[in-house]
Amino acid sequence: SVRGEENVRSPICCIMGHIDSGKTKMLDYIIGTNVQEGEAGGTTQKIGATYLSARNILEKTMELKSDAKLNVPGLLFIDTPGYEFFMNLRSRGLSLCDFAILLVDIMHGLEPQTIECLNLLKKRNIEFIIALTKVDRLYGWKTCENAPIMKAMKQQTNDVRNEFNMRLNEIIDQFKDQGLNTELYYKNKEMRETFSIVPTSAISGEGISDLLLLLVQLSQKTVVEKLTYVDKVQCIVLEGKVMEGYGTTIDVVLVNGELHEGDQIVGPIVTTIRALLIPHPIKELHVNGNHENHEVITAAQCINIIAQGLEHAIVGTTLHVVGPDDDIEAMKELVMED
Ligand code: GTP
Ligand code: MG
Ligand code: NA
Repeated sequence: SVRGEENVRSPICCIMGHIDSGKTKMLDYIIGTNVQEGEAGGTTQKIGATYLSARNILEKTMELKSDAKLNVPGLLFIDTPGYEFFMNLRSRGLSLCDFAILLVDIMHGLEPQTIECLNLLKKRNIEFIIALTKVDRLYGWKTCENAPIMKAMKQQTNDVRNEFNMRLNEIIDQFKDQGLNTELYYKNKEMRETFSIVPTSAISGEGISDLLLLLVQLSQKTVVEKLTYVDKVQCIVLEGKVMEGYGTTIDVVLVNGELHEGDQIVGPIVTTIRALLIPHPIKELHVNGNHENHEVITAAQCINIIAQGLEHAIVGTTLHVVGPDDDIEAMKELVMED
């Protein structure tokens, strides 16, 4: 990853929603991975992060809008667990994010963790798009592989469209009960007050390009206010894992700034970065030899750090980089207070 032309970092987008609403499957479809089928019980139990470059995003939105522009280097997606027990992980995931996608299963409507996520989003004042997932499950749905949603809708029978509208209207009412105005994105004329709904399928891909295009627009809008690249490193530990030949390594989300090989880090151990890897693609996270090695990595990105002593790193805490004028002992104390 390189610094964006306009010196902005990649925005971070959090994927949220009730258990089994299709968060991981949607990311799999977007990135072209197969994480969901490899999960124990098909349930996400940790925060995952995966990067899509601007070029890849624009390729995927080409059919919908051939002249879309994106002045960020890419997008980092954060996958969160929907299982109710993992409230703290949802909250932590969201704390890293610039905006979010809230998933609602069209067959189920709003569920307890949908509402919990909605309340988290409101509390933190984070902008989001609603994805109405699994439209392919509507009875009689005609698959339109990868198609923009309006094009796919035109292919459907009246019965399918009626069922779709009935479920959509119910869900719009449920959101209204939560104090939120929502509308199909292509009918939404008041983006400021009304939240957009994008119907999607993570099996056949209808609506995915629409969703990505909305994310592009959201990125463009957010850029000026929030995405200015800063030199101060902001970096959170996601998980520790043992890698053959390297001992314990950690996966981190670099939210802002840049990390270099040889940087001295504190949090709470003091150590020197031996290597920086980008897990690529995410499904091969645990396979050696499938990582890209980098001397320097700029935000936002998911990074695997190799260094000594990382077995003492603590999930969820911040890593600090020691600068030329920093006092390591003072930094250690600061980290302990986190
Ligand atoms: P948790 O991480 O456990 O909260 O679940 P999740 O929201 O990540 O959902 P997941 O991706 O695990 O999908 C749950 C189930 O729904 C899986 O069996 C998926 O194959 C299925 N699924 C997800 N998206 C779609 C979709 O668009 N259409 C259909 N038909 N099935 C889907
Ligand atoms: Mg999942
Ligand atoms: Na699941």
